Amino acid sequence: MHDIEAMGGRVSHATFDDRLGARDRPYSSGVWRFKELVYPDLPEAYIVTRPEGNTNLYEIPRLAAWAGLERLHLKHEGENPTGSFKDRGMTGGVSQARRLGMERVACASTGNTSAALAAYAALAGMGALVFFQKGQVALGKLAQSIAYGATCVQIDGDFDTAMRLVQAVCAEFGVYLLNSLNPFRLEGQKSIIFEVMQQLHWQPPDWIVVPGGNLGNSSAFGKALLELYRLGLISRVPRVTVIQAAGANPLFLGYRDGFKARPTVTAQTLATAIKIGAPVNYAKAVRALRWTGGVVEQVSDQEIMDAKAQIDAAGVGCEPASASVLAGGAQACQHGRDRPRRACRGHPHRARPEGPDRHPRLPHRPDSEPQGHLRQPAAHRRARP
Ligand SMILES: Cc1ncc(COP(=O)(O)O)c(C=O)c1O
Repeated sequence: MHDIEAMGGRVSHATFDDRLGARDRPYSSGVWRFKELVYPDLPEAYIVTRPEGNTNLYEIPRLAAWAGLERLHLKHEGENPTGSFKDRGMTGGVSQARRLGMERVACASTGNTSAALAAYAALAGMGALVFFQKGQVALGKLAQSIAYGATCVQIDGDFDTAMRLVQAVCAEFGVYLLNSLNPFRLEGQKSIIFEVMQQLHWQPPDWIVVPGGNLGNSSAFGKALLELYRLGLISRVPRVTVIQAAGANPLFLGYRDGFKARPTVTAQTLATAIKIGAPVNYAKAVRALRWTGGVVEQVSDQEIMDAKAQIDAAGVGCEPASASVLAGGAQACQHGRDRPRRACRGHPHRARPEGPDRHPRLPHRPDSEPQGHLRQPAAHRRARP
């Protein structure tokens, strides 16, 4: 979308660190603080921001111990203005809609996208249209969308049907589509990674674990990590690890099969935010996994709810989809450690200027493999069948 290579030398840690704590827009936003890496040539007048981002990173040893990890940080994206990371994407997408002079925006949603779309559209003075799967959306999320003034349409069909429908409506009536197919949304969501790296003083962890539904974040995370690496802002690339619910696991099935085919499933899980059987960002997520030597894992609804109970009891709290990372993270990292990746090597400043899919895949160096932050699985995991 923009030429990250041309950015080389123009941004540094100081560029972004100097903006921390900014009171004024756009840099008070955890998305627009990284404007050069999100949407460099967008004139500031078009930016629609609450502001969003600046969410906390929690390190809670008892959660790490429960999962069987040495160290664990949880990025609480529920601290965004409408309650999810979708705000980071919407500030990008709705700003672009404003730049294009669009009057109406739309999405299909499992809930959080609609709340964010409705809020940002209202802020920008645009009409909002949302397609939901009937009876499958948390009431609070639906209430938010209605309160912000979105037109909400419930359909008899699954999320994937709603997705097809909204695409057809947008094409027919000139409405701007703001599902994570939209690249400006993914550019905004990259800021989760930028912010995490900044919070960790630009020292990357071994693994980044993310829930996988429509796979927008999985894709955005891979792109963000590669860009940071190529700009020399991080010295190595963490492995992106995607956790799916066992009843909504097309990426897991593809991964297990070496990505020979592109499976779809009829999704069934109580983690409604990731209840998606035909993710629109499948191909981009596969690319992110390949770039970073990533891993995919699946977890049952029972495991998700057990993990959620732990996160809630720690005083942090989250919805089921988010708890999947605690449920499957340790298992996925262990599995990944058993399948070492080919490591990225070489001086990041001298990364070659070709496209990211030609990122150098160099021979495995055992000493560059992430070995830390893992120990034997915790007792509760061993007890499972
Ligand atoms: C809380 C939460 N987690 C995970 C997801 C899935 O994210 P993605 O579609 O980027 O895979 C969503 C999407 O709605 C969500 O709201």
